[in-house]
Amino acid sequence: MPIPLIEAKNLKKYFKTPAGILHAVDDVSFRINAGETLGVVGESGCGKSTLGRTILRLLEATSGEVLYNGENILSYPRPQMKQVRLNMQMIFQDPFTSLNPRLSISSIIAEPIRVCGTIKSKQGVRDKVCELMEVCGLPDRYVNTYPHELDGGRRQRVGLARALAVDPKFIVCDEPVSALDVSIQAQILNLLMDLQDKQGLSYMFITHDLCVVRHISTNIMVMYMGKVVEYAPKEELFLHQAHPYTQALLSAIPTTDLNRRNRKRHALAGEVANPINPAPGCRFAPRCPYACERCKEPQALREVSPGHYAACVLCQE
Ligand SMILES: Nc1ncnc2c1ncn2[C@@H]1O[C@H](COP(=O)(O)OP(=O)(O)OP(=O)(O)O)[C@@H](O)[C@H]1O
Ligand SMILES: [Mg+2]
Repeated sequence: MPIPLIEAKNLKKYFKTPAGILHAVDDVSFRINAGETLGVVGESGCGKSTLGRTILRLLEATSGEVLYNGENILSYPRPQMKQVRLNMQMIFQDPFTSLNPRLSISSIIAEPIRVCGTIKSKQGVRDKVCELMEVCGLPDRYVNTYPHELDGGRRQRVGLARALAVDPKFIVCDEPVSALDVSIQAQILNLLMDLQDKQGLSYMFITHDLCVVRHISTNIMVMYMGKVVEYAPKEELFLHQAHPYTQALLSAIPTTDLNRRNRKRHALAGEVANPINPAPGCRFAPRCPYACERCKEPQALREVSPGHYAACVLCQE
């Protein structure tokens, strides 16, 4: 098996809060190969953004490993980490708050190039900015404009150009299209996929939109209260959901297919429980229609079919 570009092993990120220890990311493992996209889905507060930030060491992990090309970057000292970080970038949901309003578009895109010093001459930086703007579908005329002069889609293109400025191999995309109109969403998703084809980029794509995740992912990881409850190749997950939580999530997708209109829906009652000092058993059990005594024990991921894993007692039989 080839070494994955990114691998997480038993990654944990706990926050100390006045009410107790909050298990935001709890024992998460996965692999992302070069040129692939891992879609991460789950309800608000399940730990998706914390996972993305911990992978990039924007947050320090509580324990576990993050391997980049087979090396654990969590043990890297600062200068070495700075070097690796050039290969790992992030784009955010709201490009407006993540772009400095006082800088022109060209300065925003040029900033990471200047910080890492990969291109020395001013003309070289200017040429690179123009190239990045073209790649991201931003006309030249925006070069001296400011973020507030652009619409949401174009601002997200600037965020992407800035992320691409240091030629990364891996980008964490944290809800990058959630704030955009549907037609603009499709343009940005297609741009991300084009870039992946041309440059072999890998993505971790965080979203709560299952249609988006279906469009863009190679594999999908479903999270619930900091835990991975199911992990499978995209097509497999949309055909067969092994975990009741995934079944409920996917049955909530609206459909225009008349044959599927009468399909059974698994409505999700209640809200995600508080992830502070959680009990050791399945965290979905309080909302699960199939919950039983055995759900009080911890549930590990088990392979239900090749490459398809789920953490549920129903998968033990
Ligand atoms: N700095 C922090 N200190 C304490 N708790 C935090 C911190 N950051 C996140 N959390 C908590 O960790 C949990 C996971 O948060 P996170 O933002 O990762 O969720 P998410 O899945 O990205 O949600 P959303 O879909 O709303 O963006 C939440 O319960 C959140 O309140
Ligand atoms: Mg988030």
